[in-house]
Amino acid sequence: LDALNGAKLPASADFHVHLRDGKMMELVVPTIRKGGVNTVFVMPNLVPPVTTVKHALEYKAKLESLEPNVTFLMSLYLHPSITPETVAEAAKAGIAGIKSYPAGVTTNSSSGVLSYESFYPVFAEMESQNVVLNLHGECPSDHDAGITVLTAEERFLPTLLDLHRRFPKLRIVLEHCTTAAAIDAVKSCGPNVVGTITAHHLRIVVDDWAGDPFCFCKPVAKTPADRDALLRAVVSSDPKFFFGSDSAPHPATAKRGGDKVAAGVFTQPYATQLVLDALEAAVGRGLLRADEVSNERLQGFLGDNGRRFYGLDAERNEFIVLKKAGEIVQSSLQTPDGELEVTPFRKGEKTWSLAF
Ligand code: NCD
Ligand code: DOR
Ligand code: ZN
Ligand code: ZN
Repeated sequence: LDALNGAKLPASADFHVHLRDGKMMELVVPTIRKGGVNTVFVMPNLVPPVTTVKHALEYKAKLESLEPNVTFLMSLYLHPSITPETVAEAAKAGIAGIKSYPAGVTTNSSSGVLSYESFYPVFAEMESQNVVLNLHGECPSDHDAGITVLTAEERFLPTLLDLHRRFPKLRIVLEHCTTAAAIDAVKSCGPNVVGTITAHHLRIVVDDWAGDPFCFCKPVAKTPADRDALLRAVVSSDPKFFFGSDSAPHPATAKRGGDKVAAGVFTQPYATQLVLDALEAAVGRGLLRADEVSNERLQGFLGDNGRRFYGLDAERNEFIVLKKAGEIVQSSLQTPDGELEVTPFRKGEKTWSLAF
């Protein structure tokens, strides 16, 4: 991708981030712009989850005070306490979406959704108020039914299609697509159904997380064929697919110690760079041609497609310049007191550089 060395692109938009709260928030929010990003869609799975407009706006104010030069799009956590009235209030307050987590599938999803039916009145109101439904598209594991982490996304896709059929104008994002089947399902729907793709799922497959907690996330990375379908979608110029890093920081102790490994890959400080790295690797092994990774297609995936879907302007008219400078992914981020440590994805590996 030498042709991209020195290329100028609009600042990236990352439509799926976990910024947490407290000390972790203070540690990761200042890294958003380092990743070339000036617009983020913020996930609501705090403890307790963000289920009210008031909580979302308070959270937004905290994020803005930490980083005034980023646009924060806020979301609510789909929960029985959310009613059609909440949706109307959310729309008025500029809340961009409502995220649905199936109960028990990932970090802080214990209060997630068991059945979608009870939310149909909420979805109908979202459809008419133009509030986006962000789906964590996995079925909870059910071994008797043959559902494991490897099949959880594919087995969810009929639910996506069913929701699209019942609420044809509802704008839906299938978050963090990890399979060829998910890409196909999104393509088979109308233009108001789109998908986000992370940087790490463009790089890793099942073997990578099988032995490395820092590559473990939900949905888990799948097969090489699945990864390659994601890579092709990124450079396809299909406006249905755009960037959502799903950067999900956990304290290093929760990744390597303890009995259970926390799910989540932390990519925020290198969000844009890791997409470039993955595309470059795909060119290197002959999956993509260098000319398929054009400035224009990158611009669509990294910002334009998502901004158009969420109805944003080209934010702040800011640009980044890409550079190949032999930069190395830092091995850890720590608070000044050293009490909290987070490990970035691909620590110690070579990466692209960028500057605003
Ligand atoms: C919390 C709850 O139920 O309020 N549960 C938890 O920490 N496991 C928050 C949440 O579910 O997100
Ligand atoms: O790996 C994940 N981590 N997947 C999610 O959906 C949630 C996230 C988190 O919050 O840690
Ligand atoms: Zn999710
Ligand atoms: Zn997520």
